[in-house]
Amino acid sequence: MTDHVRVSREQGVLTLTFARPEKKNALTNAMYEAVVREMNRAENDPEVRAIVLAAEGDMFTAGNDIGDFTAVATGAVAPRSIGASPFLLALAHLTKPLIAAVQGNAVGVGTTMLLHCDMVFIAEGAQLTTPFVNLALVPEAASTWLLPARIGYARAYAMFALGQPIDGKTAAQIGIATAALPANEVQNRAQEAARALAAKPAGALRAMKKLMRDVETIKEVMQREGDEFQARLKSPEAMEAFRAFAERRPPDFSKVA
Ligand code: COA
Repeated sequence: MTDHVRVSREQGVLTLTFARPEKKNALTNAMYEAVVREMNRAENDPEVRAIVLAAEGDMFTAGNDIGDFTAVATGAVAPRSIGASPFLLALAHLTKPLIAAVQGNAVGVGTTMLLHCDMVFIAEGAQLTTPFVNLALVPEAASTWLLPARIGYARAYAMFALGQPIDGKTAAQIGIATAALPANEVQNRAQEAARALAAKPAGALRAMKKLMRDVETIKEVMQREGDEFQARLKSPEAMEAFRAFAERRPPDFSKVA
């Protein structure tokens, strides 16, 4: 169990709230485990009819905890200890409606997980970034397929390769988000949408979602990305990027192959 994910259930809606604001809600293995456990339980619990992902503080999440990346990169823990993979698989398999309340910036998996959400309510000024290449890594969550499909290759490449941000308003215009709102309205709108979905016929919703998502391809792409990601994690480039983050300096990739 972790204190960093708050769990609440009301009127058929399960809300999972990232609650590690002092670390910008960076996701630890324990947080992933808590979310996966709750999502899997919800998937089999007829009383849960919609799930909301939300966050405390000024950021949605700063992505994977870089300390956990470093632990794998240095061999301190085995690669399977990276918590993201079971989380990504749980996202791929979830057939219940998933709604995100993105009240602030999202980085890395914080952005790519939105591609698996059925509705995304985002603060107008929130910035979405995917700086995997800046960390000498590759994108995950099947985003190398889903993001270009959603917003076009050119925009997706700029987000991935340059870490170029997309703001909330643009995210809504180009189809990453359902609506961009003032930050203080995001949570309420997400809960309203979740309650509306909870009142719909659950069987039809589930069947429709399955028809709309090519889960087998999503899993295949996740596997390919995961293999490359694990290899990149151990590269000298990635070590330099993680060290630079810990030392609060820009990385210098000029001396690493
Ligand atoms: N992993 C681990 N710790 C993180 C983190 C992450 N992904 N993101 C932020 N934190 C920690 C910081 O180390 C800092 O800890 P400290 O107070 O003990 O020093 C704390 O959260 C606050 O972050 P800080 O950098 O001081 O806040 P900021 O507002 O200046 O910057 C970010 C916020 C998100 C821009 C910056 O923290 C950042 O770039 N984080 C890394 C994001 C990232 O690359 N994620 C992985 C993507 S694949």
